[in-house]
Amino acid sequence: MSQTTEGKRHDLMSIAVATPAELVDATGMSDAVAKKMIAVARSSLEMGFESGEELLKRREKVQRIKTGSKNFDALLGGGLETGAIVECFGEFGSGKTQIGHVLAVNSQSIEKDAVAVYIDTENTFRPERIIQLAKGAGLDEEQVLKNIKVARAYNSDHQMLLAEKIEDLIKKQGLNVKLVVIDSLTAHFRAEFIGRGTLADRQQKLNKHMHILLKLADTHNLCVYVTNQVMAKPDMFFGDPTQAIGGHIVAHASTFRVYLRKGKKGTRVAKLIDSPNMPEGEAGFYVDETGVKDVE
Ligand code: GTP
Ligand code: MG
Repeated sequence: MSQTTEGKRHDLMSIAVATPAELVDATGMSDAVAKKMIAVARSSLEMGFESGEELLKRREKVQRIKTGSKNFDALLGGGLETGAIVECFGEFGSGKTQIGHVLAVNSQSIEKDAVAVYIDTENTFRPERIIQLAKGAGLDEEQVLKNIKVARAYNSDHQMLLAEKIEDLIKKQGLNVKLVVIDSLTAHFRAEFIGRGTLADRQQKLNKHMHILLKLADTHNLCVYVTNQVMAKPDMFFGDPTQAIGGHIVAHASTFRVYLRKGKKGTRVAKLIDSPNMPEGEAGFYVDETGVKDVE
C-alpha cells in the first residue's frame, strides 16, 4: 500500500521535531546534514494551527469500541474511542486482561477488515478465550482469530520495538488496525528498573513508548488500550490505598484512565479517573463466559 498523505506528514513531523543528535544517532548522518534536514522539514511543514471547526470535523471521525457493558461504555461516552489511549489499572484479577480480549473481538465490528494488534507481555493471551468471546458476540470465530495479530514481548526494549513495528503492519502490509492492546504496559519496565537511581531512565523510556503509541492512535485513528498494575501507597490511611505504576508519564499520556476494582459477589467496578470531556463516574460490570456484561 502506498503511504498516505497523513503518514507522510507524520514522517516529516518526526524529523521537524527531532534534535540533530537524535537524527545523527538514528542514521549516522553528519551533524550538519541533520541540521539542514530538520530545517527543511520545518519549513515544508505547516506547523499547524487548526480551527475549532476543523478539530470538530476530526472528532467526527472518532469511532467507539464497545465493551459489551452499556454502563462501562457510557462511562467513556459510548465505548473506547479511536484516536485515544485508554488505560485500565487495577489489582490482579480485576479484569484488565479480560477486557483486552473482549476489545480485540469487539473492535472487529467497527469496520470491515478491522485488525487488532495484541502485545502480550505476561503470556496471558488465550486464543481459546477469543473463540468463546467471538461466539458470545455472534461473530465468526475463525475470522476473528485471523484478524488478531499477537506478539509476545520479552522485555521492555522488545515491547518498544514491537510498538514501533505496528506502523509497518499498517503501511507495508496494509492492515486496517483499529485497536492496539498492550497487556501489560508497565510490567517489564517495573521489573527491569529497580531502585531509585534507575527511575529517571525508566520514566524516560516509558515516555518515549507512550509517545509512539499516541502518535499511532492519532495518525491512524486507532484505539490504544493499555493495562497497568497498582502498588500500595504506604502513606495513605483513608480511601483506596493504591496507585498506578508509571506515575505522571503514563497518567498524562493516557487520554482516558479507568480504575478497576473487585466489587461484591464477583462483580467489578470501573471508575473513570481522567477524561477530556466525560464526568468522573463508576460502572458495575462482570465477566462471564460470553463477555463483559452490565451488573443489573
Ligand atoms: P493481572 O493481570 O493478574 O493483574 O489481572 P487482570 O486484571 O488482568 O485480571 P483478568 O482480566 O485476568 O481477570 C481475571 C478474572 O476474570 C478471573 O478472576 C475471573 O473472574 C474472570 N475470568 C477470566 N477468564 C474467564 C473466563 O473464561 N470465564 C469467566 N466466566 N470468567 C473469567
Ligand atoms: Mg492480566
